Amino acid sequence: MDAQTSLEHAATGITDERVVEVRGLRKAFGSNVVLDGFDLDLRRGENLMVLGKSGSGKSVLIKCIMRLLQADAGTIRVLGQDVLTLDQEALDRLRVRIGFLFQSSALYDSMTVEENLEFPLRRHWITRDPKQTDALVDEVLNAVGLPQTRRMYPSELSGGMKRRIGLARTLILKPEVVLYDEPTTGLDPITGKEIVELILKLQRAYNTSSIIISHDLNVAKLAANRIIVLHEGRNHVEGSYADLRASNDPVVRSFFIFM
Ligand SMILES: Nc1ncnc2c1ncn2[C@@H]1O[C@H](COP(=O)(O)OP(=O)(O)OP(=O)(O)O)[C@@H](O)[C@H]1O
Ligand SMILES: [Mg+2]
Repeated sequence: MDAQTSLEHAATGITDERVVEVRGLRKAFGSNVVLDGFDLDLRRGENLMVLGKSGSGKSVLIKCIMRLLQADAGTIRVLGQDVLTLDQEALDRLRVRIGFLFQSSALYDSMTVEENLEFPLRRHWITRDPKQTDALVDEVLNAVGLPQTRRMYPSELSGGMKRRIGLARTLILKPEVVLYDEPTTGLDPITGKEIVELILKLQRAYNTSSIIISHDLNVAKLAANRIIVLHEGRNHVEGSYADLRASNDPVVRSFFIFM
């Protein structure tokens, strides 16, 4: 890293420590080769965005990082641990330290907001103490600005509110790394912007490092310290939003079609 980049990173709180390292990741479904030697480094404190068109393998990538899908080849290290060789118990422990915001908010419709938020705490045995649980639910509901929704059901919330509650549920475990799958998809641009601003605010408050998977250039512009363009299973181009904006590469240009 050159001196200029180090200075810029010092200003943003990004360190040189790699919290996620992906090397030569390959994943195919039959003859459909989705990832074909993909590499990625996430530094502590960084917001790294992976930009790729629909079907390029963005969701497959983060599912491989979480080992919800088994990679065919390559290595994945998260917080210093080799994800592909961990036993189930160690993997469960590691997953608590990685937040995952699903492409849809994936809230349980039959549970209230409060019950949705308590669920990860119980499931991962973080706490079953009612007072402590209550305090954590309060904290994250306030952090996402929706304390009034506590006893509501997901069907009573708007899309943007569901996304916020999804964020709260991810954050309640105090993850060190958060993987966001299309955090703004399906939202209008104003609500999308609010969600991105909330992600940035929470990232500072909770001191997380993030990988944001999206095809939304507004996310790239507002939130990304660095962007990797995923194309045909590999790293196509890497740079800042300004670098991409100035690029003449046809694949990069295709994302700016409406801009
Ligand atoms: N479980 C699976 N079994 C078989 N094929 C799969 C599976 N999951 C994903 N794929 C295939 O992998 C490819 C990439 O899918 P992926 O969901 O990662 O795309 P994406 O980049 O997230 O797209 P979008 O922006 O639309 O969410 C697609 O061709 C898809 O059909
Ligand atoms: Mg996807």
